[in-house]
Amino acid sequence: MSQTGPTLTDLACEVLRTADGRQKTALARRHAATWQAARAAGTPLPVGTGTPPLQPARPERPELLDPRDVPRRRPGSPQGRIAILHAVAHIELNAVDLHWDIIARFGHVPMPMGFYDDWVKSADEEAKHFNLICDCLEAQGSHYGALPAHAGMWRAAEDTAEDLLGRLAVVPMVLEARGLDVTPGMIDVFRKAGDAQTIEALEVIYAEEVHHVAYGSKWFHFLCGRDNRDPVEVFHDLVTRYFHGPLKPPFNEEKRAEAGIPPDFYWPLADGAGST
Ligand SMILES: [Fe+2]
Ligand SMILES: [Fe+2]
Repeated sequence: MSQTGPTLTDLACEVLRTADGRQKTALARRHAATWQAARAAGTPLPVGTGTPPLQPARPERPELLDPRDVPRRRPGSPQGRIAILHAVAHIELNAVDLHWDIIARFGHVPMPMGFYDDWVKSADEEAKHFNLICDCLEAQGSHYGALPAHAGMWRAAEDTAEDLLGRLAVVPMVLEARGLDVTPGMIDVFRKAGDAQTIEALEVIYAEEVHHVAYGSKWFHFLCGRDNRDPVEVFHDLVTRYFHGPLKPPFNEEKRAEAGIPPDFYWPLADGAGST
């Protein structure tokens, strides 16, 4: 019997080419389960190589605008809270694609199986996060697509499409680490509003995102170690090259430490660092 089943890269590309949010996340979860079951059975899918789309398919709505043109709303109002949830849903959908993209785009770089396990698990969790936040939006009479969202979220992926170390530095270790900084404040906003469903969803996200940052740090260090390079120096170089602007304190030093990112990685890149 010849092996003609799909590769992990094929599964990843299928998710990336699915436009609708709920369909994308359903497929992401199904494909994650397929990979995990095959791994548990000792018959892993081949990783394969392929060509993921430069930009993932996205639904017709939300309309994507320049961040400066996305209207701001007061967080204290119900409309303001819906706007926060909408922005989070957009980030989560983007994250689903980012995690499948790192699998599909760098199949030519030899990596241990654990690398794929980590990003498949992360992609599965992002799909869950998107669904949880969409449930919250719908409970409040809104939905993903009802408001405009930031264009340009895929920029980090495009900028690092040919640089796996750059991708790890900018996506999990900068963007997702930023999520750890801002989520507690967001939880407070919904606590003040007495919104138990959203608090619960955000707490799931907060707990799981620590692992995504940790996977980023783990594989970043792995690759630096394989080439005998200094991780802190390489990180500063790549973030300066690919991330547009300084990192914004305050940092969640405790959660960042838990995720394997010590202060000497981010403080020298912080807003105002070196200006005294
Ligand atoms: Fe997430
Ligand atoms: Fe994440």
